[in-house]
Amino acid sequence: MSDPDSKPVTDHNGRLYIETVGCQMNMLDSELVVAALRRDGYQLTDNPKEADTILFNTCSVREHAEHKIYSALGRLKYSKRNRPQRVIGVIGCMAQKDQDLIFQKAPFVDIVVGTGQLAEIPRMIRETRESEERTQRKAVSLGRREGSREEVSDSFQSYDPLRDPEMRPTPFQAFVRIMIGCDKFCTYCVVPATRGPEQSRPPAHIVQEARVLADQGVREITLLGQTVNSYKYTEDGRLVRLSDLLMRLHDISGIERIRFITNFPKDMTTDLLQAVRDLPKVMKYLHVPAQSGCNDVLKRMKRGYTVEDYREMMQRIREIVPGCAVSSDFIVGFCGESDESYQKSMDLIRECRFKNSFIFKYSARTGTKADELFADDVPEETKRQRNNEMLELQNRISEEDNAEFIGRRVRILVEGPSKSASRRAAREGQPLDGASLLPLVTQESHDSHDPHHPHDSHDSHHPHDSHHDHSIEPQTIQHASEEAARLALQLTGRTECDRIVVFDGNPRLIGSLAEIEIHDCTSTTLLGSIVTKEFQHGSGLLLPILG
Ligand code: 5AD
Ligand code: SF4
Repeated sequence: MSDPDSKPVTDHNGRLYIETVGCQMNMLDSELVVAALRRDGYQLTDNPKEADTILFNTCSVREHAEHKIYSALGRLKYSKRNRPQRVIGVIGCMAQKDQDLIFQKAPFVDIVVGTGQLAEIPRMIRETRESEERTQRKAVSLGRREGSREEVSDSFQSYDPLRDPEMRPTPFQAFVRIMIGCDKFCTYCVVPATRGPEQSRPPAHIVQEARVLADQGVREITLLGQTVNSYKYTEDGRLVRLSDLLMRLHDISGIERIRFITNFPKDMTTDLLQAVRDLPKVMKYLHVPAQSGCNDVLKRMKRGYTVEDYREMMQRIREIVPGCAVSSDFIVGFCGESDESYQKSMDLIRECRFKNSFIFKYSARTGTKADELFADDVPEETKRQRNNEMLELQNRISEEDNAEFIGRRVRILVEGPSKSASRRAAREGQPLDGASLLPLVTQESHDSHDPHHPHDSHDSHHPHDSHHDHSIEPQTIQHASEEAARLALQLTGRTECDRIVVFDGNPRLIGSLAEIEIHDCTSTTLLGSIVTKEFQHGSGLLLPILG
């Protein structure tokens, strides 16, 4: 599918390879950078060997993510000797955090571009290519103490240029950034430094962007912000909160589903929960990281709430939005975390019964308050044990709660073939991006990662992380006609409460809302079969499509 707007301005047949690690904010940034470079005449390749521009969009949240990038860069050292014309760039969080250190560690890197300067990338690549002598180029924002709040904020620009429909994970799902930066300054976290001060985008821009996306066929939008529920914008003297924004977005026809990630517990206001309850297009799913169940640890983390506050918030969620799924993040092995503190996190998981939790081993980060003030005193082996044990507990809870869905019908947005269907097709030499099979799908690897989960970082130990295969080997097709059965493929989608569903169905279902009857589950996946396909949110029109 080609889009007239994405026609290259110049055509130099450049080939671009981009590797992205980290959260959804990075995925969106990569999508937008690629779109800009395509307009400059670049073609995307998934083979770094044939690329003449290689970009790494990086994450600094944990050390492991940075190591991966430095190792990948190390492998390019010799290739750069053989191909000096090749442009190598490091962009994103690590670029903002390490800056010149990247040039020191990897002198063959040509450009370093921080999160707040992404718009500069096309120009910088062009200049690098055109210049006679080799000059390293850097575009980074000010450090948080390198200017007034206004100056620092101005140096971090939200990057939201025109979208390229071909670059989305799927044609009918899109991320929409509503704010950048973070002002919470949790002591373990690099984000306030790498993404700068919290800045909300004007509601009119967000609504306009969502309208354009709806016109392009997007049915589900995921609003992004590091603390998305802290969104606030003063418009004509009136405060616009996330709940107000949701109401405005809800009016856009074509958009059927809206979700938002990631929430900060203290900012989970009642007006927001009421909006989640009252607006049918808003998914009944909230990702609200607790990080720890122990007040001493929370205090050292400077999270700004107690476990009692978190419990009160959970109770409000349960009361106001019954059936709402809640997921969390936990850090194990934070400075001074005793076994007793750790057990309190386990208790919180037992009590809150999260849909899922992302669990991370504490990783000390230079430049953070925790690194400055506290010793990283929990041995690696203990961190590992706590991590595994916590994951086991969470998996057990997820499976028990998923089992409650057996025999029930759920409504999903069908996202695409499951991973195992994609792999099987690739093995048989028929990749599932073929127009014949999936007329609606233009992107190769729609479920190669999990685009809807916050912090889908490659080093997370989350049951839904990118290494996990949600799919199950083929089930018997129960409601399909023979022809449908011949075409049927294992498909995947999500419920309104963000649970992954796998079922066999006709590929033409992709992009539509469908009703599925659940008959089995694992800790990460509900297994079912198609009942009906449904058109238009709330129109009540139900059309049987199979059998
Ligand atoms: N070490 C381990 N985990 C971290 N996170 C953030 N900083 C660190 C760190 N230094 C986790 C938190 C956060 C998620 C994005 O990553 O749980 O919610
Ligand atoms: Fe980091 Fe989230 Fe805390 Fe902000 S709220 S400092 S992004 S952990």
